Amino acid sequence: MRLWLIFTFISSVLFGAQVVQVGDKFKDSTKCKACHSPIVKQWEKSWHAKSHYDSDEYFQKTIDYVARKDNGKSLNTIKIECATCHNPRISVTSTNAEDEALASVGLDKNTAASKALKSDGISEGINCVVCHNIDKIHDDLPESKRGMDRVIWMKSGTMTGPYNDAKSPYHQVEARDFMNTNPNQLCFVCHANDKSEDGHRFVNMQAEFKSNGKQCVDCHMGIRTQGVAATIRLSNGDAHTRMVRSHGFVGAHTETMWQDALGVNAKKTKQTVEVTLSNPQPHALPSGFGSREILIEAQYVSAGKILKTEVLSLTSKYLSKRDKPTIPHLAVKTISNISIPAFSSKIFSLPMPIGAESVNIVVSYRLVNDEVRELLELKDPIWSKKMVIKKLNLKL
Ligand code: HEC
Ligand code: HEC
Ligand code: HEC
Ligand code: HEC
Ligand code: HEC
Repeated sequence: MRLWLIFTFISSVLFGAQVVQVGDKFKDSTKCKACHSPIVKQWEKSWHAKSHYDSDEYFQKTIDYVARKDNGKSLNTIKIECATCHNPRISVTSTNAEDEALASVGLDKNTAASKALKSDGISEGINCVVCHNIDKIHDDLPESKRGMDRVIWMKSGTMTGPYNDAKSPYHQVEARDFMNTNPNQLCFVCHANDKSEDGHRFVNMQAEFKSNGKQCVDCHMGIRTQGVAATIRLSNGDAHTRMVRSHGFVGAHTETMWQDALGVNAKKTKQTVEVTLSNPQPHALPSGFGSREILIEAQYVSAGKILKTEVLSLTSKYLSKRDKPTIPHLAVKTISNISIPAFSSKIFSLPMPIGAESVNIVVSYRLVNDEVRELLELKDPIWSKKMVIKKLNLKL
């Protein structure tokens, strides 16, 4: 009996998400503000803070669309699947046949799953106790186990961080490598690979990453600078100064991050203009979530007038079980996948009209391509906004 208990304990620790309830004192970022307000403010503006059904239109409409098209599963079941990475501190990690039966007749408002999905801690998305309450990251698990299925949580009230000499009057502290010398391990808990409902892999960021010594945090949290980790004053009247990074997690949603993210060169050949895009970053671009897009627009000019405009879209497109265009999460197949791999370049040719005297080239990025934006009826202008990478002019 005892042996059996030990066995089930070990196998659930190794192969299933173990829920550790987060105490009320630590549940959400408002509890950290008194001593970490600069960090809380930076994080609040990040998209980690928006990673929840109620805060990100694209995420919400993707979940609704999957629930509508994937008849076998209720909205709650899909939300809980996505919570693995988007809301990993959720207290319910699966639904059962009874939940599905209640959902099918609209009587699932008071199930444990519904209550867990409404709790205020998880409405903050990827908050402080997602990253700072991890004890161990299990890189020995199969690579498809991600998010909450890949980590062992710390006991509530102990914060893991980069320093081994920190002391706090509010919580315990423990140092971890994945907060200091090996932060990629933390980012790869979620930013690694993801697959559709039918098991089709549409993100493979960890596999495409080529290390050159730079870590994700160097670019997406910025370099370490002198600052304070906690604003609370020590006995000498000053706060402890430390080397710190920004918690802005700036990325694809921030226009300024795209300026010069790729090198762009153009040259004339006999009948075309050749545009070379070179990627100095350690991962592909576009990368990460499917259906991101890079646009090359060439505006040919003659005698001060626009002669013709050519547009090239570099993106991924997906097909459903019924061979129809679909969103990444319902894909069974990727039919085109154009991105520039890490430290590589690609050449794209655009036809050149006769009589063109010069060409204005604009290379930009969009979070969602036309196809998926229309399928999901996304309304917020951020999804269609063209964020400029580089503009150049070439005499022909
Ligand atoms: C009453 C003040 C106070 C509150 C409230 C507080 N902390 Fe802290 N925290 C500190 C102090 C002081 C330190 C140590 C700073 C130093 O050594 O420079 C610290 C350190 C940390 C560290 C770094 C630990 C390490 O070893 O590297 C993390 C992470 C952290 N806190 C997270 C949190 C989170 C998350 C919350 C909210 C749930 C929180 N703190 C609430 C005072 C506080
Ligand atoms: C628990 C899972 C998880 C972990 C761990 C995690 N992320 Fe994220 N990250 C996400 C999710 C989910 C999103 C998408 C949120 C959204 O757009 O709604 C995201 C978004 C981002 C973005 C995109 C922001 C933008 O504006 O496009 C960046 C950059 C990022 N994360 C960097 C990091 C870095 C660096 C680390 C490691 C220190 C990290 N993440 C760790 C899940 C995670
Ligand atoms: C996506 C993961 C992630 C989230 C979410 C996150 N942190 Fe951090 N945090 C990190 C990493 C990585 C470091 C180590 C940065 C470094 O190299 O110094 C860090 C460092 C810290 C430190 C030490 C100071 C520093 O910059 O090194 C404190 C304090 C801290 N975090 C508090 C918080 C609080 C409070 C929140 C919530 C508002 C939060 N963190 C949310 C990943 C995260
Ligand atoms: C040398 C700097 C650098 C490093 C290191 C780096 N990135 Fe990036 N990353 C960028 C730049 C530049 C972009 C394009 C602008 C933007 O989105 O920030 C980008 C884009 C992204 C995007 C959006 C991609 C897209 O096409 O929509 C994600 C997600 C991301 N990075 C995550 C990561 C993760 C996770 C790591 C670590 C495994 C990492 N990055 C390492 C510079 C870097
Ligand atoms: C394996 C971890 C993981 C799982 C499970 C997961 N996601 Fe994500 N998701 C991420 C990460 C990491 C990002 C950020 C990548 C990026 O910005 O390129 C993200 C980004 C997204 C985005 C883009 C958000 C934006 O603001 O641009 C959408 C939409 C999304 N996920 C939908 C879902 C849905 C729906 C589910 C459940 C069916 C789900 N995800 C399950 C890790 C995951």
